[in-house]
Amino acid sequence: MQGHDFTPYKIAAIYLFAGVSYILVSDWLVVGSATAGWRPGLDTAKGVGFVVVSAALIAWLVRRELQRREDVIKAAGAAQRLEALGRLTAGVAHDFNNLLTVVINSAELLHDGLDDRPDQQRHAGAILGAGERAARLVENLLVFARQHPVHPQRFDANERIEALEPLMAQALGKHILLSLDLGGKGPFEVLTDPVQFDSTLLNLTVNARDAMPEGGQLRIESKRLHLNGSQAAPLQAAPGDYLAISVADQGEGMTDEVMQRAFEPFFTTKGPDRGTGLGLSTIFGYMRDARGAVALHSTPGKGTRVTLYFPLAAPAA
Ligand SMILES: Nc1ncnc2c1ncn2[C@@H]1O[C@H](COP(=O)(O)OP(=O)(O)OP(=O)(O)O)[C@@H](O)[C@H]1O
Ligand SMILES: [Mg+2]
Repeated sequence: MQGHDFTPYKIAAIYLFAGVSYILVSDWLVVGSATAGWRPGLDTAKGVGFVVVSAALIAWLVRRELQRREDVIKAAGAAQRLEALGRLTAGVAHDFNNLLTVVINSAELLHDGLDDRPDQQRHAGAILGAGERAARLVENLLVFARQHPVHPQRFDANERIEALEPLMAQALGKHILLSLDLGGKGPFEVLTDPVQFDSTLLNLTVNARDAMPEGGQLRIESKRLHLNGSQAAPLQAAPGDYLAISVADQGEGMTDEVMQRAFEPFFTTKGPDRGTGLGLSTIFGYMRDARGAVALHSTPGKGTRVTLYFPLAAPAA
């Protein structure tokens, strides 16, 4: 039990004591001195009743206020811890990045020099592959810790998605069909960091692949739309013109529980060896920084659709 749990009752008790004493003493002084053999009357009982009820009210109000303050302090503590975790993560990730550069470069040299020893070359290839995967992980950590340098640029989002298509198809593998529907009339210019834009789409592609182990289709659509006040509010975005890019799979979908936690940092259902749980939380932070929004729709057994809303850049002067 917290120490302050008694404070509201102490305050109420002091008020009660003071109030009742005042009523009794003043009644006795005014009424009692005039008439001998004074007994508490109806007015005295009313006064005491009033003091008792207001004391209870005071206890309740003070208690509620103290609880509210405690909640605020707790929330601030959690935010501070997350910030400290971010800084720690960034520090470790930087050092790691330097080491990984050495590993990747050496593995590459080794790999290229082993053309006449295919068995050994395979091992060098495995080192290279694991090194690159680790580098991607570090990149995710840095973005998560917001230590990744962000360079917003103006570019046509549809052109960028088209350029990314081969890479996404490669990430999906042979069993998943990738289809793009980048409809409508352009230009679809957005102002955001292009590297983060690519990594967001690749992250979503990999999530979709993991959700469709038996294969299926991944559909990427983009369209221009205007969000009015009541459409923008639930997305925590400002009303205006957006480019909505949706990434829809036919995978296993998410239960309500998973959906509620999907954007949480380090939340993964894939096991520690396969997922860091930083994919969607990073995307959430990125979209918020880009003054956009992200929406999630998912039906278990049917599939998942993630929609990214990028504010359209004003036409170049
Ligand atoms: N397209 C999807 N279909 C079904 N579930 C998904 C999909 N995308 C995300 N999820 C669920 O949300 C969780 C969190 O996703 P997130 O991308 O943040 O982390 P992860 O994919 O598990 O790990 P990482 O992205 O680091 O590889 C996943 O573990 C999965 O349960
Ligand atoms: Mg992921």
